[in-house]
Amino acid sequence: MAARSDLAFDPWDPEFVADPYPVYAALRARGRVHHYEPTNQWLVPHHADVSALLRDRRLGRTYRHRFTHEEFGRTPPPPEHEPFHTLNDHGMLDLEPPDHTRIRRLVSKAFTPRTVRRLEPYVRRLADELVCRLVEAGGGDLLTDVAEPLPVAVIAQMLGIPEADRGLLRPWSADICGMYELNPSEETAARAVRASVEFSAYLRELIAERRKEPGEDLISGLIAAYDEGERLTEQELVSTCVLLLNAGHEATVNATVNGWWALFRHPAQLAALRADHSLVPTAVEELLRYDTPLQLFERWVLDDIEIDGTVIPRGAEIAMLFGSANHDPAVFAEPERLDLTRRDNPHISFSAGIHYCIGAPLARVELAASMTALLRRAPALRPAAEPERKPNFVIRGLKGLPVVVA
Ligand code: HEM
Repeated sequence: MAARSDLAFDPWDPEFVADPYPVYAALRARGRVHHYEPTNQWLVPHHADVSALLRDRRLGRTYRHRFTHEEFGRTPPPPEHEPFHTLNDHGMLDLEPPDHTRIRRLVSKAFTPRTVRRLEPYVRRLADELVCRLVEAGGGDLLTDVAEPLPVAVIAQMLGIPEADRGLLRPWSADICGMYELNPSEETAARAVRASVEFSAYLRELIAERRKEPGEDLISGLIAAYDEGERLTEQELVSTCVLLLNAGHEATVNATVNGWWALFRHPAQLAALRADHSLVPTAVEELLRYDTPLQLFERWVLDDIEIDGTVIPRGAEIAMLFGSANHDPAVFAEPERLDLTRRDNPHISFSAGIHYCIGAPLARVELAASMTALLRRAPALRPAAEPERKPNFVIRGLKGLPVVVA
């Protein structure tokens, strides 16, 4: 474990993870940028700075398009981690232009507002079915019964993953996502490497099948783009599929349960929502702001920048605190108050700039669908026990959310 810092920010402390928001307030009051020794990163807590940095081309999610590890003053990852990095580094989230632009253009066709609108009835029907089953059982675990199966089924359906294989996705995703926490352990890395090898092999086989026998799915679409214009390499295709499958459910699962846990802790707000379902769209946005599902995103400094008089040199790493930006009183009136009617809500939960979440319209449809189904079919839904929080800081979530319906 890394040495603690004099900042109260401590992503390995369960108490901090349970409620990081007071520490964020202290960080914002103390200044605009803070060097954090344990991870050797520059923490940025203010909304205006996070928002500007996300759009600043002097920063990047990778530096490999411009520098070698050595030129950038960084040690290359150990060779035994290579399968994880090969997979991760060829997905658009970890690429910069021009590769990022090329891949994003191909993929974004599948996530246009029109395509997502066409999916909406299917997403609603699925949400309804899942909630009906929960109601028939008298309750269960909101995480495993509704929050998880909905986005997993939707993204798997879009990519054409056979139904029988969908159970494989969650464990692979969880093992790979362990690497996005700060200072992951060797054990976490070993799990991520194993999952990367298995997931890649699985997709290569599926891609070979689709190449022989194309379907209506996104994998077949991306193969066709590849075969026609050679605009995606095989590795980019595999990495893109993994990114879509993981990003396509991981944060939505957490946003659903974090959101409902926040609602249960604010009974007056929940009662207002139950009385007026037209609040669902603003409620979804407010819950994404109030308990931010992805708390921190990193960028490399490719060319020196200056924040509030502090020069942050090329080679440094910035950690933008999304949860803090979303609670910045300079932007949100009474940020610590959950207000499901909040209209002026420029939260940053889906990021900004060139990596802005490609799945945001789909995530919104999914979150609204499960919320509406739960409000309609389980109007007395309540927690059966205090949920246990996952120890992770970056990807914020619960281990489960036991509920009863009456
Ligand atoms: C509540 C749910 C979700 C949240 C909070 C979320 C959040 C984010 C954030 C913050 C980023 C950008 C990270 C950065 O700037 O470094 C991102 C990127 C991305 N997200 Fe989402 N996401 C969600 C759901 C989805 C869904 C449903 C998909 C479906 C495919 C998806 C696919 C992606 C992809 C492909 C990227 C990479 C975009 C790029 O690099 O250009 N996300 N997401």
